[in-house]
Amino acid sequence: VSEESTVEARPARLSVTEMTELVLPQHANVLGAVFGGALMAWVDVCGAITAQRHCRRIAVTAAIDELVFHHPIKVGDVVRLTGRVNGAFKTSMEVEVKVEVEERGTMVRQTCVEALLTFVALSDAGKPARVPSLLPENEEDLRRADEAKARREARLARQRKA
Ligand SMILES: CC(C)(COP(=O)(O)OP(=O)(O)OC[C@H]1O[C@@H](n2cnc3c(N)ncnc32)[C@H](O)[C@@H]1OP(=O)(O)O)[C@@H](O)C(=O)NCCC(=O)NCCS
Repeated sequence: VSEESTVEARPARLSVTEMTELVLPQHANVLGAVFGGALMAWVDVCGAITAQRHCRRIAVTAAIDELVFHHPIKVGDVVRLTGRVNGAFKTSMEVEVKVEVEERGTMVRQTCVEALLTFVALSDAGKPARVPSLLPENEEDLRRADEAKARREARLARQRKA
């Protein structure tokens, strides 16, 4: 682990990332709904920007821990992706990306996809580098951090058993 950067804790608010995309025919599957792989690419980009804003370094995707498609998204839909750091550990960060579709007439948003990803910060030498911890600002921040920590501990326990 590179020790070259140890910085103060930062609130998750500062790295929240929003992206808006229009679903075009080239993003569609044979049913005219969005192709899952295209959506996953947007999720990965949104998550990476969020992680990089938090650690202010290059961050690579270590794992897509969870990705659930709740509702189909169609060609012509406008989707909004929101990324947020849930947990910051030694060199890794858990980022949640939510994808919502906007109803054109009303602008009402419906959650279509929820994903959790792990990103690892890299030093200039390309080695895992320390990330700033999260500075919780409210109950929701504390809840998200506790849940991320529990998920990480469960993953590490599974890896120890394997
Ligand atoms: C992610 C990567 C940098 C980790 O390197 P590594 O040598 O395994 O590093 P370490 O074992 O020291 O682990 C570093 C961190 O990654 C985390 N990590 C490693 N593998 C992981 C996995 N499968 N899931 C979640 N986290 C993981 C570790 O828990 C550790 O976190 P911590 O420092 O907060 O405790 C390396 O596996 C890699 O480069 N993978 C390819 C990344 C890539 O190409 N992504 C797609 C393009 S962006």
